[in-house]
Amino acid sequence: MPLPTSIRREGSLAIVTIDNPPVNAMSASVRAGLLAAMQSLSRDSSVEAVVIACAGRTFVAGADIREFDSGVIEPTARQVLNAVERCPHPVVAALHGTALGAGAELALACHYRCAVPGARIGLPELTLGIIPGAGGTQRLPRLIGARRALELILEASPIGATEAQRIGLIDRLIQDDLATGAVAYARELIGEGAGPRPTSGLPVDSDGFDDAFIEQRLAAAHKRMRGQRAPDLAVEAVRAATQLSFEEGLDREAQIALRQVKSAEAKALRHLFFAERAAARVPGLSQSVPPLMIQRVAIIGAGTMGRGIAGTCADAGLQVELIEADAQALSNGLAALRAIYESAVGRERITAEQMTERLALIHGGLALEAVNDVDLVIEAVPEDIELKKRIFGRLGSLNCAGALLASNTSTLDLDEIAAASGRPESFVGLHFFSPAHVMRLLEIVRGRRTSDEALVTALALAKRLRKVGVVVANSAREPLAARGSEIGSGERGGHSFGFVGNRMMLEGYLREADQLLLEGAAPDRIDRALERFGFAMGPFTMSDMAGLDVALKSRESSGIRARRRPPYHEVADELARRGRLGQKSGAGFYRYEGGARTPLPDPETTALIEELARRLGIERRTVNDEEIEVRCVYPLINEGAKILAEGIAYRPGDIDVIWTTGYGFPRVRGGPMFYADSLGLANVYEEIARLYARLGQYWQPAPLLKELAESGRSFAQWSNERQ
Ligand SMILES: NC(=O)c1ccc[n+]([C@@H]2O[C@H](COP(=O)([O-])OP(=O)(O)OC[C@H]3O[C@@H](n4cnc5c(N)ncnc54)[C@H](O)[C@@H]3O)[C@@H](O)[C@H]2O)c1
Repeated sequence: MPLPTSIRREGSLAIVTIDNPPVNAMSASVRAGLLAAMQSLSRDSSVEAVVIACAGRTFVAGADIREFDSGVIEPTARQVLNAVERCPHPVVAALHGTALGAGAELALACHYRCAVPGARIGLPELTLGIIPGAGGTQRLPRLIGARRALELILEASPIGATEAQRIGLIDRLIQDDLATGAVAYARELIGEGAGPRPTSGLPVDSDGFDDAFIEQRLAAAHKRMRGQRAPDLAVEAVRAATQLSFEEGLDREAQIALRQVKSAEAKALRHLFFAERAAARVPGLSQSVPPLMIQRVAIIGAGTMGRGIAGTCADAGLQVELIEADAQALSNGLAALRAIYESAVGRERITAEQMTERLALIHGGLALEAVNDVDLVIEAVPEDIELKKRIFGRLGSLNCAGALLASNTSTLDLDEIAAASGRPESFVGLHFFSPAHVMRLLEIVRGRRTSDEALVTALALAKRLRKVGVVVANSAREPLAARGSEIGSGERGGHSFGFVGNRMMLEGYLREADQLLLEGAAPDRIDRALERFGFAMGPFTMSDMAGLDVALKSRESSGIRARRRPPYHEVADELARRGRLGQKSGAGFYRYEGGARTPLPDPETTALIEELARRLGIERRTVNDEEIEVRCVYPLINEGAKILAEGIAYRPGDIDVIWTTGYGFPRVRGGPMFYADSLGLANVYEEIARLYARLGQYWQPAPLLKELAESGRSFAQWSNERQ
């Protein structure tokens, strides 16, 4: 193994190169190499300046996250960075790619910083539930002021080199070759007799760093990072920079960072970090198959989903043919897209030119013939299997033989639609979430005959669209009827109704929330309890937004409604039958006044629930928040365990990614399966078994959950055993 750091001399200049592929993470060996290099160069009087640069595609892009669970490994980043800063010769950081986390902190500890214009620099630690722990919270305020430093740390996303230069974070932009430019810059510094410029020696500019500012930024951070403590801790650390000496500030930062890295919040976010990356690796999928080139996309249906998908594709530079059956629906769709872009321009998310460019990529029409020569067809017409089959049947006579075919169905049997296309090997589910141009999740559904090429292309597309693609199977490995499974799969030869996300929601979470209404809890009581648990939005506010007719229609058309015994979505379906469709009709579980979106408790809903409860012989009582939490969250775990055993989801981590990116499950709890592991599966199983004894049918414990609980294992262990 070559050493991850090396020193090259160019006369009185020393160039230290870090080479630790793929992203030059600041691992223990990089730290050791860097420390040794700085110690020897500091002692060497023939050296006049040092350049620290990286090989490969990026500067140090962060710490080695795998080390976070193993405690402190010497030398620590603090020791190394102090050695860099104390070097008696000027040290220049040469940045390209992304200088993130420990990489940005290394740059801050250097005396001067230069970068190529495309470089990005930032402290994204908060996304992992931690704070910068290698001096970032102390050095950044000294370079750019406490106010801007706090903003950058709380935003947790990198800024470009030009902006970094504007605020004083970078001294020099190098337009041409970085290595040559950095050396020339270092020689210039030697020529000027510039000498070392330790960041720690600079005063902190606290201008505007007042309570009102802090509160305002903190509130914005909490909105984005629901339930996280890390933003408050970041404030504490930056405040220390304004109040304490540099060394005391470093001590405070280290104390906070070390405690936080072991917190439940940080562990959960680390789990999701790795799970999101693992999701792209699909078991049994050949790595050597190249994806198809996608440049032109046809989207069929310009409704809620079609228009959002069109926007997402145009955002990624794809050409879009938006095809409708109804002229009014088409013009509504195109107008809605324009409105989405105009609002993005208004909020300065994109420029007016970008809006024009993206709108120019979208072409609307009423003829299916527009699919000619496209590389990808995404169907987003209403959830009606016969309609979808008819559309794909017609494609056979049109000229798109090489295209990847995809349906956005949320619940239907993909294999049945794929068969109607006559090209099931080129068929995948691309299950976008609403609003499609915002939601990060893309559930990629693998049919029985989906080819590796189709799957690899879908995964590459997810990446191009900047979505998290998670592959799930359309149907169980073996027909479930044979395994005696009462609910869930086993529909139509093992097809998983609702795949992973919607199945867990409909068969677990929402079903149980609906039953709790009958037992005595009001919709707003249940919503509040689950929002306190950490969900982005309570289940009934969410259902009202999605539309109760949509859910009822899919339960009816799939035959599920007729097969399930009461109480099964009794309240939701009865509201829909009475025309209370949710926000769009002014009433659903809640009522809405004058077109507003604020849900208001509605005595009519209460009366309907009471009437249904009487009819079903359910005795009403007081239900407390703890019961609401258990009754709604544990079915997710139980259904998740069935989904894993059936092979519908490949890993518990995939389920966690789906629920945290698509359904508002609190990220600080790591997703339902990680949360179950953190509770202890034996505890979860016992509770579910108790509820099965009390409530029967839908609570039957999943065999996998029982097996793991009895053998003292976790979902994570089960998953590792199968790697
Ligand atoms: N709405 C959601 O939250 C959501 C989320 C994920 C997936 N989905 C799925 O996406 C699909 C579309 O849902 P939606 O909410 O956008 O429905 P929608 O009713 O808003 O839009 C469907 C559009 O398809 C058009 N259409 C009907 N027949 C057509 C045909 N033959 N050719 C071209 N266009 C035709 C309709 O005119 C309508 O504009 C469904 O399968 C649904 O299950 C919906």
